Amino acid sequence: MTAGVFRHSVASGDPLQDRVMLWTRVTADTDGPHDVAWSVARDEGLRDVVCTGTAASDPEADHTVHVDVDGLEPATTYYYGFEALGESSPVARTRTLPERGAERVRFAVASCASYNAGWFNAYARIAERRDLAFLLHLGDYIYETPNVLPPGAPQPPDIGRPFDPLHECVTLDDYRRRYAQYRGDPDVQALHLTHPVIATLDDHEFADGTWRDGSSWHRPEQGPFADRKAAGFRARWEWQPYRMPDPLDPTRVFRSVPLGDLAEIFLVDTRTRRDEPIAPPEMNDPARTQLGTEQREWLLGALDASTAHWRLVGNGSVMGHTWSEHLPESIRPALRALGLLGEGGSGPDPDQWDGYPVERATLLQHLREHDMTNVVVLSGDVHVGIVIELHEDPVAGDDPVAVEFVASSLTSMNIDDKMGWPRRDERSLALERTAIDTLPHWKWCEFDSNGYVVIDVDRERVQAEWWFVDTVLAPSTHEDLGARWLVEHGSQQAIEVSRPESAPGSV
Ligand SMILES: [Fe+2]
Repeated sequence: MTAGVFRHSVASGDPLQDRVMLWTRVTADTDGPHDVAWSVARDEGLRDVVCTGTAASDPEADHTVHVDVDGLEPATTYYYGFEALGESSPVARTRTLPERGAERVRFAVASCASYNAGWFNAYARIAERRDLAFLLHLGDYIYETPNVLPPGAPQPPDIGRPFDPLHECVTLDDYRRRYAQYRGDPDVQALHLTHPVIATLDDHEFADGTWRDGSSWHRPEQGPFADRKAAGFRARWEWQPYRMPDPLDPTRVFRSVPLGDLAEIFLVDTRTRRDEPIAPPEMNDPARTQLGTEQREWLLGALDASTAHWRLVGNGSVMGHTWSEHLPESIRPALRALGLLGEGGSGPDPDQWDGYPVERATLLQHLREHDMTNVVVLSGDVHVGIVIELHEDPVAGDDPVAVEFVASSLTSMNIDDKMGWPRRDERSLALERTAIDTLPHWKWCEFDSNGYVVIDVDRERVQAEWWFVDTVLAPSTHEDLGARWLVEHGSQQAIEVSRPESAPGSV
């Protein structure tokens, strides 16, 4: 762990073709603002300097520093560092996005990093890679949860690193402390020292089950939810190397990110603008929205306007149907534990796209009617890996309109943790087989493992590789390729590339 002025290390994010956001924080005895010199170079020794400048830590922003460095070359690796109060920060690597004509881009996708549930071994594996343009983070970068969850919720295993603060984050100070804890973690620091991050958010950046005006766990004695949501947003902007899409609207996260003309990523916020999750039949009300009017109109319009070879939609919530009345009773408790089914396992989960069926149908219909045959949806949130072909109505057997790749969690509990059995136990395998047999639009799933996905985009196909770590209960350097699937350009069918051996070697 870094000590001194730069104990929270440095980070970069929101790269574009000509710019990238750089971040650090100054820890000092006095409030400041403190002058911070920064430099960007072509080499790790910071000798071949391309630009330098001076910024200041902002006491109003928890002493953080944000620099939007422009004038950079596309698809280029840079190194950067800061100096303040006689100390130098670690030197970090970052990379700009490609411009028109790019033929291939590889990036990682991750979500759901509960600090007290697991060691961030997957971040360390991502940090070892040099074949990635960036990390796409689909949310739950932090968990606001208390160290001991309320009665009835499955408790994470005790790995000996409790949350700070121990209590649930509610105030601005709470959220700042939680981000500071994450940024003190060596694997989190290694990630940010290596790759720029492009992100959307999920509910735990605020509170479990966040919706526009509340959350499933928010209690009146915790104060107005609007204050809590504003604190969550503010701490996120302070502590992350992100560029506000609209500086006048700190609640706006949705935006698109161009990867040259090869692909465009549409990043969506499925939490802070949605109506309250509600069980059927009310969930079928056509007026209900997960995106909110402004974001939905932006998304449909931006998808229409895109001329990119691939359209990639990044969001926290699983878009494909995870409920079917044909699901056998025997597997419903486990799927309910994963949050794939609603209360009692007798219907759809209101907390994801299944809970906003009319708006989902509108979106999928839009893709079909506008002949968008190049859409791939990237999702997280549910802590398991899934490949889904997206249908307006999978039961009716209509043609799929897109493919969805769902990333597993970095550390948050999946089915083995929640049900209390060993990883890759026969009971997990049986659940997965039954899910695939019952949900014909599901092509593959893995309910036990933590890790990340590598997305590889070229003109012919988008390929997804699920990389799994062997454990999150202790530091470990092992990872396995769990599965590899692709979708060919113009097709909406997922194809398995190869089924790895049951215990392939680590890379
Ligand atoms: Fe999560």
